[in-house]
Amino acid sequence: MALLLAQLSDFHLDGTARSTERALRVMDHLRALPTAPDALLVTGDIADHGAPEEYREAAGLLTAPFPVLCCPGNHDERRAYREVLLGEAAEPGPINRAHRVGDAVVLMCDATIPGRNEGWLAPETVSWIDATLTAFGPGVPALIAFHQPPVALHHPLPDGSCLGDTEELAELLAAHPQVVALLTGHAHTAAVSLFAGVPVVVAPAVTWTLRMPWESDDPADRAAPPGLAFHVLDDDRRLTTHFRVVS
Ligand SMILES: [Fe+2]
Ligand SMILES: [Fe+2]
Repeated sequence: MALLLAQLSDFHLDGTARSTERALRVMDHLRALPTAPDALLVTGDIADHGAPEEYREAAGLLTAPFPVLCCPGNHDERRAYREVLLGEAAEPGPINRAHRVGDAVVLMCDATIPGRNEGWLAPETVSWIDATLTAFGPGVPALIAFHQPPVALHHPLPDGSCLGDTEELAELLAAHPQVVALLTGHAHTAAVSLFAGVPVVVAPAVTWTLRMPWESDDPADRAAPPGLAFHVLDDDRRLTTHFRVVS
């Protein structure tokens, strides 16, 4: 049966009324849908400063009658994220989680480097992805989500902090053709590209929208409404994405 997945990214919760209102707006929208998604994917920059109180707010906001699957972004802080959002011990290592959603598996991966904006897949994360995809096997279609896109998007802001050292990711995709798509955030713009022959879908941000260089010299459109993506994964492993804004 086809899966319906929603994706939100880049809440940047900072304790302001603005960030709270925008997060509530998109979550209320999803919670009120006539048909609930099979899962919601949240691809990082949940908090703006990585502060425990920002994750306390996130824990409340991200409550839904469907599974909410998260990965961290460069604005997140692993210890507070683990302790407050996940209710786990405050350990500093990468936060990688695999979730079975219907007939598929969704890998929520930690592509962050503490203290840096650019991303990479640490050796332990590469090994975890490889072992997880091997364990589920080629019969289970897989989606891999992480924060920083593995490709340039033609804007200096995201392109200056995209995922580096992508050879390992290309090797993983070659070894595991059941990976249907890569789902990311970080760029604050709804975008679609290709990496190693696999679709890359970049979710729009909840906080603000990136203006491209040919649109404006001011990159941050704070008046644009928060965006979201809906992904439909067909039984024949075809992913179709619909982008929305929530006014
Ligand atoms: Fe962000
Ligand atoms: Fe980011």
